[in-house]
Amino acid sequence: MKLWAGRFAKETDSLVNDFHSSISFDQRLYREDIAGSIAHAAMLRRIGVLSPEEESLIHSGLEQIQADATAGRVAWTEDAEDIHMNIEKLLTDRIGDAGKKLHTGRSRNDQVALDLRLYLRREIDIIAALLTELTESMLSLAQRHVLTWMPGYTHLQKAQPVSFGHHLTAYTQMFSRDLDRLADARRRLNVSPLGSGALAGTPYGLDRAGVAAELGFTGTTLNSMDGVSDRDFAVEFLAAAALLMMHLSRLCEEIILWSTNEFGFITLDDAYATGSSIMPQKKNPDVAELVRGKTGRVYGNLIGLLTVLKGLPLAYNKDMQEDKESVFDTVDTLQKCLMVMRPMLETMTVNEAVMSQGARQGFTNATDLADYLVEKGIPFRSAHEIIGKLVLFCAQEGRALENLTLDELRQASPVFDDEVYGQISVEACVRKRNLLGGPNPEQVDRSIALTRVFLKEISGRFAAAKMVEDNP
Ligand code: ARG
Repeated sequence: MKLWAGRFAKETDSLVNDFHSSISFDQRLYREDIAGSIAHAAMLRRIGVLSPEEESLIHSGLEQIQADATAGRVAWTEDAEDIHMNIEKLLTDRIGDAGKKLHTGRSRNDQVALDLRLYLRREIDIIAALLTELTESMLSLAQRHVLTWMPGYTHLQKAQPVSFGHHLTAYTQMFSRDLDRLADARRRLNVSPLGSGALAGTPYGLDRAGVAAELGFTGTTLNSMDGVSDRDFAVEFLAAAALLMMHLSRLCEEIILWSTNEFGFITLDDAYATGSSIMPQKKNPDVAELVRGKTGRVYGNLIGLLTVLKGLPLAYNKDMQEDKESVFDTVDTLQKCLMVMRPMLETMTVNEAVMSQGARQGFTNATDLADYLVEKGIPFRSAHEIIGKLVLFCAQEGRALENLTLDELRQASPVFDDEVYGQISVEACVRKRNLLGGPNPEQVDRSIALTRVFLKEISGRFAAAKMVEDNP
């Protein structure tokens, strides 16, 4: 019999049972649901709604259910609709009447909001730890390659030389912002909705703050209708996840490009590439392609939830049950992608000679040649024109700017001098860009050091929050 059967004269149609039940996916929330119930029951005892005996029966009954569920010994039933009623029903079956008092002063509406917040809080910590490890690993890789010259691109056309270390630390900046966003989302979700009831609170004199503190929250929601209908925290997580996936996807796109025969900048380890069923020679970057591809579903999850929420009147509506699969799928996808990215990067071979050869081609030093003329007093726009003509000449002749003779250079402008050659080597071009955020090796070292400081700080932030939660 359904826990809410009292008002109904008929059984639910079996199609409807299957259609509206969420137990197939929300069983994932059993630990959060039980933690919330244990804290709620303890508070009900404190305010005199439950006797100490009842509360202790509930507490130990819930702990047993948790142990059984963890061991896979619980048969969840569609008939009990969702995780909340499954657990309540199991409890009542096991401990009798005391179990029927657990739902006093509570609704599944505030219960599910609580469960999802607790769940995300834990999963965000796992994601942040994985992202921190990936970022640290990329910093070490960058550190080894501050002197590995490579072409920097705009429009995917060679532009100016940088180093592979500089290129990688661009990504560690993105990941630092992602970590900051995750920490931010976590901080904002960390308030307890319990006590909001179905939508209008409850008359039992609940100790909302006490329950919140016991569950490690930093506060409580402040409007009962908002408490049950707010899913901003889930949207914020999905948005941070979408942005992070976009960064991973861009990196993967580069890995795919770099591993082509045309680029040849890197070689993926055999353990992180796959073959073809027909073409014997193939070694494909499937892992990177899949991360790029999975970005689509994470975006979809964000747009999906935003769309579910956009037309909902206050307060709870069953539409909101659709939040969970978006969140679960995003958590799973993100964790898997982060786990596979790090070893893929750590095991790839960086073909330094190919990279630096590439940096010498395509007139990547043309800007520096123009800058040289500027130093000699020629206005930049005129210098641009002069060097543009030299580039055209070299392109026609199949030569490089640094191979022009001094005579040839002087025909373009009389101010050229012998020392020009020292200023347009790849190394000189990179070293000259010695400013904060630039590719000069010392600047890249500095950026790596600063990012390491940031990672320490943000890991500390996560650890401190968790420490408070674990010892409320
Ligand atoms: N399974 C529901 C959900 O995921 C729990 C809340 C149901 N509340 C209700 N009044 N039907 O949203």
